[in-house]
Amino acid sequence: MARQIKIFDTTLRDGEQSPGCSMHINEKIELALQLERLKTDVIEAGFAASSQGDFDSVKVIAGRIKDCTVASLSRALTADIDKSYEAVKRAVSPRIHIFLATSDLHMKYKLKMSGDEVLRRIEESVRYAKTKVSDVEFSAEDASRSGRDFLVKAFSAAVKAGATVLNIPDTVGYCTPDEMRDLVRFIRENVEGADKVELSAHNHNDLGLAVANSLAMIEGGVTQVECTVNGIGERAGNASLEEIVMGLHTRPYLYDAKTRINTKEIYKTCRLVSNIIGVNIHPTKPIVGQNAFAHESGIHQHGVLAKKETYEILSPETVGIPENKIVLGKHSGKHAFSEHLKDMGYGGISAERMQELFDEFKRLCDVKKSVSNRDLEALLANKSQEKSLKYTLENFVINCKKGNAYAAVSINCGGEIKTEIHDGDGPIDGAFMAIDKIVGKSFVLSDYGVQSVTEGKEALGESYVKLSLAEGGSVVGRGVSTDVIESGILAYIDAVNKLLN
Ligand code: KIV
Ligand code: ZN
Repeated sequence: MARQIKIFDTTLRDGEQSPGCSMHINEKIELALQLERLKTDVIEAGFAASSQGDFDSVKVIAGRIKDCTVASLSRALTADIDKSYEAVKRAVSPRIHIFLATSDLHMKYKLKMSGDEVLRRIEESVRYAKTKVSDVEFSAEDASRSGRDFLVKAFSAAVKAGATVLNIPDTVGYCTPDEMRDLVRFIRENVEGADKVELSAHNHNDLGLAVANSLAMIEGGVTQVECTVNGIGERAGNASLEEIVMGLHTRPYLYDAKTRINTKEIYKTCRLVSNIIGVNIHPTKPIVGQNAFAHESGIHQHGVLAKKETYEILSPETVGIPENKIVLGKHSGKHAFSEHLKDMGYGGISAERMQELFDEFKRLCDVKKSVSNRDLEALLANKSQEKSLKYTLENFVINCKKGNAYAAVSINCGGEIKTEIHDGDGPIDGAFMAIDKIVGKSFVLSDYGVQSVTEGKEALGESYVKLSLAEGGSVVGRGVSTDVIESGILAYIDAVNKLLN
């Protein structure tokens, strides 16, 4: 029978800790709930001791998630373990995840600890965490560059103290699949009690091998894989969840292993992460990139038309990519609209939000005539017009010539309409500065981008902006409209609302 591989998602911890990927607490909760629908086994919700924000989000997520283990990362310190425990204790299945480096390099230069001290610390910290929760994971940071004999001692100390999971990270993405497979086998054969605990893979992608290393470690015997959605994470990122899952799904006999992931939720999850962090999915990204299932050359198109399997090893439907066919038009009523959203997997939308979405859909129909699933996905992801927000766009007028523009923007500020005019290098620049004037603050714009949701002249434009305040805090705002300038303005206002909240 195929072995069950647990998927440990660390998008909210290892993913979120990388530059440009920070998330707001509400976004973290939304993602955690989506990871639960995706059916990940473990959600590493954060590093509770690292900040009050992380502590709060781990705590809220632990209270909300019912069907996954919720983990918090901890250094091998009593104070960190206490914080993690406070944050995860309400979870149905709480886990404390302790890490300490075991390579000579890290012990000597970073920890400034001797090997004996590290071994003692591992044992003490795991033993202490066990007094709090029954599920304790120990990670030997930089395991792949650690001396093998020392690594065996470190893992043996963790098992002796009660660890339930031993994680083997390739922290700096240095090793190859053969080396990582062999390392798992070595640990299985040499660590006393390794057969009674879960072994886990955690690979970084510095040499582009994170997914290959994870799959090789599954061959070597790990039963848990740590990964992130879209492979986001420190430096070149972590192993990508969707690539590992679909690797196993596509070649079940090769790996003789399976996960419990609901693959149909993969695309939605990847889109959500991309929207939250404001980083587009690269067109050639395996599994979920725009070109992943596109067949451009005549020979390929001919083959796929004759028999899909000639050039397709997995189908877009398996990962929940919506068919880009026209689904609704201006004559579609609210009932058909809401039923269609349910069919797409978006049930449970409140009556108020449904009305908003339907109004947006009708506005879109005036411009676009027919609306596809991809358009609907973009509308669903767009929350910038929510009534609870302080600022909403009322109107705007742009007057521009090459290299110079004037933007007049009117914003509804909690019931009062305010208008400002500003010049700029271009319409977007002028409009953003007019908004700053209305709000009375000067924001720092670190990124702005726009892409089209579908093809054609009437396509929806999806904009994002990354905005921060001089005193700190950075957010991503999104906006969607068939008018790219309007989508940029909506994205900016969305970011302003998030920052000021
Ligand atoms: O990459 C790493 O070593 C880690 C550990 C904290 C598990 O993220
Ligand atoms: Zn890591």
